[in-house]
Amino acid sequence: MLKAIAFDLDGVLTDTAEYHYLAWKELGKKIGIDFDREFNEKLKGISRGESLELILALGDQQKAYTPEEKTEMMVWKNDLYIELIQNITKKDILPGILPLLEALKENNIKMAIASASKNAPMILEKLGIISYFDTIVDPSSIANGKPFPDIFIAASEQLNIPVSQMIGIEDSQAGITSINDSQMFSVGVGVLEQADYLVPSTAELNFDSIIAQFNN
Ligand code: G6P
Ligand code: MG
Repeated sequence: MLKAIAFDLDGVLTDTAEYHYLAWKELGKKIGIDFDREFNEKLKGISRGESLELILALGDQQKAYTPEEKTEMMVWKNDLYIELIQNITKKDILPGILPLLEALKENNIKMAIASASKNAPMILEKLGIISYFDTIVDPSSIANGKPFPDIFIAASEQLNIPVSQMIGIEDSQAGITSINDSQMFSVGVGVLEQADYLVPSTAELNFDSIIAQFNN
């Protein structure tokens, strides 16, 4: 029986994935590394530091900066990102999400956030939905980020609900691998491989179909 759902944040609850992309792209411009949306797919779900390393590797610049300079770049990107998301509100919650959160609450299904973003609590506050969640995994407490399963396992431990009674929802390939390897049932949003149940967009995420797929 389904007891809990662990949600990714960026690209699932709200379209902040787009702002991460825009901010990294601006940083790329500053250091002469251009990339497109296809490359950006690789940055989804992974940490700030790992994202920077992938961008530097793309430009063959991994060795070009000291750790201090890399930290400065991450701060610069995060400052720009925070500026870009300053005005997000309830209206930026993706289609289908609020009715889903409401249905889960009515059916007494617990909810967790399993996001690599250190900005997650602030974003949930801005969206006005933080109170739906019983727990938020602190990404800095996780040894191995997505695609490793640690963050979804931590969500199950924090809720004290076995992974076999949980679903994870993700919009990134790294995230789907993470859910699958945690042995949770995976729900993917977008164009992804290996999700147990895949929907094209959050608008198609509804409580009854998710339960039907999970029980299948
Ligand atoms: C999420 C996003 C990534 C982002 C990461 C870290 O997983 O999908 O694009 O890089 O969180 O986010 P942060 O807000 O801590 O830089
Ligand atoms: Mg995401």
